[in-house]
Amino acid sequence: MQAKIAWYLIMLLFKRVRRKPGKNLKKSKSGAVKLVGILSLSGLGLGLAGLALFLYGTRVETRKYRLETLKLRTRSRAAAGGRRHDLRILHLSDLHLSGSDDHKVEFIRSVTDDDYDIVVLTGDVFEFEHGIKYGEHLLSRKPRLGAYAVFGNHDYYDYSILNKTLGRVIKKLRHPARKKDVTPHARSLRQGGFTVLVNESVHLADEDIYIVGIDYPGIAEDELMSLMAMAPPQSLRLGLFHLPRKLEMLADAGFHMAFGGHTHGGQIRLPGFGALVTDSELARHEASGVLCRGETTIHISRGLGADPRSNIRLFCPPAATVIELSHYPGDNAIDLDQGEREKRCFVESGDI
Ligand SMILES: [Fe+2]
Repeated sequence: MQAKIAWYLIMLLFKRVRRKPGKNLKKSKSGAVKLVGILSLSGLGLGLAGLALFLYGTRVETRKYRLETLKLRTRSRAAAGGRRHDLRILHLSDLHLSGSDDHKVEFIRSVTDDDYDIVVLTGDVFEFEHGIKYGEHLLSRKPRLGAYAVFGNHDYYDYSILNKTLGRVIKKLRHPARKKDVTPHARSLRQGGFTVLVNESVHLADEDIYIVGIDYPGIAEDELMSLMAMAPPQSLRLGLFHLPRKLEMLADAGFHMAFGGHTHGGQIRLPGFGALVTDSELARHEASGVLCRGETTIHISRGLGADPRSNIRLFCPPAATVIELSHYPGDNAIDLDQGEREKRCFVESGDI
């Protein structure tokens, strides 16, 4: 009898012992299920947030074209007898026009339907051949002193995905081997009222303004100096370029103001951090806006488009910029306090 009771107790204990780990297992199983659930939900949330951001960046912000205004002052220290200029200049850049860009062109036409002294267009005008048709329709009105354009890398090259990926690390693959003939591009712009400058200059004699257009990827220093040697000494000297490269050279050459593009402002800018990249020798904080090099004021445009294969913008909407430029011939002709005299660039107002 005692043995039976002992056997019964042992079995009871055995059952409990067997049951206990089962319960723990169930508990730990339900904990793991909960954790997997939380992780899955977090992953799903992050994925949906990423997708929403991607759709916003590719479908919404890329079409939120803005017209911004900047008031700038430039001066010429050496000038004596030069004149003051007050100019309203429209800076357009990086249109990347392809065949179905009616919306973008409508915006450009609405912006150019205004009174400007000068319109400048700083490259990457066309992306694909079928975008060339837009060139002659960009200006709604002829600017008082003309419109001037230079070409950028996307005007000269049809990039492949290989160029845009491996080309980032392998210099040889950076650009396609074949450079495009831009004759139709230039013809379309000329028909639209632009003067296309390929390492060339124009002198607006009545206004004494000297404009130099620097072709992509840049110009040799001696060639630039030769062009600048032809500038009348009292003239206001304006430069156009696409790729921000060796900008100190612009200051050495004596430009008062220059206009460039290419960076797209970085395209993706993180709040509190700014642009991630500039795709150029510029620092991240110089991805767009007003830069100073020596006595030269430079405006880098965020542009109105991008390569369609990487056309995403976040916190960096596409923009055209109206620059209200006042140029003073020499320090004495401008009312400056000591602090301002030490400044090299004068941004009076505007979102830079
Ligand atoms: Fe561009």
